[in-house]
Amino acid sequence: MSFKSHRLISILLTILFCSTLVAAKSNHFSRTLAPSSLGLKREKLSHLHFYFHDIVSGRKPTAVRVAESAMTNTSSTLFGMVVMMDDPLTREPELTSKLVGRAQGIYASASQSETGLLMVLNFAFMEGKYNGSNLSVLGRNTVFSAVRELPIVGGSGLFRFARGYAQARTHTFDLRTGDAVVEYNVYVYHY
Ligand SMILES: *[C@@H]1O[C@H](CO)[C@@H](O)[C@H](O)[C@H]1NC(C)=O
Ligand SMILES: *[C@@H]1O[C@H](CO)[C@@H](O)[C@H](O)[C@H]1NC(C)=O
Ligand SMILES: *[C@@H]1O[C@H](CO)[C@@H](O)[C@H](O)[C@H]1NC(C)=O
Repeated sequence: MSFKSHRLISILLTILFCSTLVAAKSNHFSRTLAPSSLGLKREKLSHLHFYFHDIVSGRKPTAVRVAESAMTNTSSTLFGMVVMMDDPLTREPELTSKLVGRAQGIYASASQSETGLLMVLNFAFMEGKYNGSNLSVLGRNTVFSAVRELPIVGGSGLFRFARGYAQARTHTFDLRTGDAVVEYNVYVYHY
């Protein structure tokens, strides 16, 4: 290649590069960041284990039905029922054991063929280093299955950038009252 064409290519490259820079500069609402600029180091995997208390009976329920359809009570799966929960999470199966957080959100009967709940909730942690941090769950819960898996879709505080899954196993279910204790194992990647 001649000296001339070399120069031409370098001029063309310079023009191209500068126009890219201009385009990047005019794009004021977004930019690329190095993870270290947010103090993010290595992603780690954590396992959390606790018991979830869904109390629907008695004078102080922790989960209340807030909506239903006209046919919900005649549906074998209570299709259309919407329940708001603020359920305690404890370290041991007993409600009197150490409170580690609360499950706050909604579960709704979303299946007409089996008991399948749509779960949309936040785990708000209140104990140890995770006090003040939250995890968000969005999943399907077929409550009569032995193990249900629910995706962890995000988090805040120490759980920023969280992703993972929760496994739910019914520990006890009182057929008379409808109260349930559910064991949760949560596996989550976060920084
Ligand atoms: C359905 O049953 C629930 C629980 O027994 C009751 O609170 C509710 O009023 C009933 N709803 C309808 C539409 O009948
Ligand atoms: C959790 O944090 C709150 C607010 O900072 C504080 O009041 C509370 O005592 C903490 N709980 C535990 C168990 O450390
Ligand atoms: C987590 O949820 C609590 C409510 O339980 C809220 O006060 C707090 O701001 C949330 N934490 C973060 C880090 O956003």
